[in-house]
Amino acid sequence: MTILVGDCRQLMPEHAPFDMILADPPYGDTALKWDRRVEAWHRLSVQCLKPTGSLWVFGSLRYFMADTPRFEDAGLKYAQEIVWRKPNGSGMAADRFKRVHEHVVQFYRRDAKWSDIYNDVQRVPALHKSKSVRRQRPDRVGHAGRIGAHEYHDDGMRIMKSVIDAKSPRGGIHPTEKPIGLLEVLIRTSCPPGGTIGDFFAGSGAAGEAATMIGRVYVGCEIDPLMASRAQARLAALFPFFDQPGDER
Ligand SMILES: C[S@@+](CC[C@H](N)C(=O)[O-])C[C@H]1O[C@@H](n2cnc3c(N)ncnc32)[C@H](O)[C@@H]1O
Repeated sequence: MTILVGDCRQLMPEHAPFDMILADPPYGDTALKWDRRVEAWHRLSVQCLKPTGSLWVFGSLRYFMADTPRFEDAGLKYAQEIVWRKPNGSGMAADRFKRVHEHVVQFYRRDAKWSDIYNDVQRVPALHKSKSVRRQRPDRVGHAGRIGAHEYHDDGMRIMKSVIDAKSPRGGIHPTEKPIGLLEVLIRTSCPPGGTIGDFFAGSGAAGEAATMIGRVYVGCEIDPLMASRAQARLAALFPFFDQPGDER
């Protein structure tokens, strides 16, 4: 578990391959100084991904519309997307709807089959348990011949919906820090227990906290040395085994 300091395009390949890659790049949607699109990380991420792995990318629709050719040229296929709904919102413009969501899009390698991708579909308790138990008639003949009685038991769990509510951290280390709960859902879905996550744009190291709490190995990378040192301090305070740079253990 570590946070590398520097450009992910130079540093991450050394630590590959990853079971899952997280990418939360600057969207390039605003005039803010730090909000500049990063080029050419897409192709590198493909090279760093295991054939069974996938890449989850945070971004606005505007960002994805602009970057779609880059994902395609890199050899990435779209898998699905979720919407992160943040009740407290982040929009600053007075002439638009108040923005209370972000997209998170999953891609996988074009040379891989979706059925081979690690995919632990998350389930959550149902709001209402089904009252009925369906039975198939024992004498019914199915495609593959006569089948026995079948009972359907409602275990009270349902597949998680693609719109996920989570509050943005307030007073965190990074202005666009992502919530631990949301990161945990993505990690559980796409990284096997004990697997390794590459976080190309680590910011506050929030994904490092989420990954380590649930038993995944984390390698983050952050280009801003001040932000990286804050993220390192955050993880070192939580996890005594955190691999601090300069630590000779
Ligand atoms: C949107 S923020 C990530 C926030 C992070 N996911 C969190 O929860 O705190 C993007 C980060 O990428 C960093 N960054 C920009 N270009 C980079 C590059 N080439 N390599 C590594 N990090 C980079 C920025 O300094 C910024 O902290």
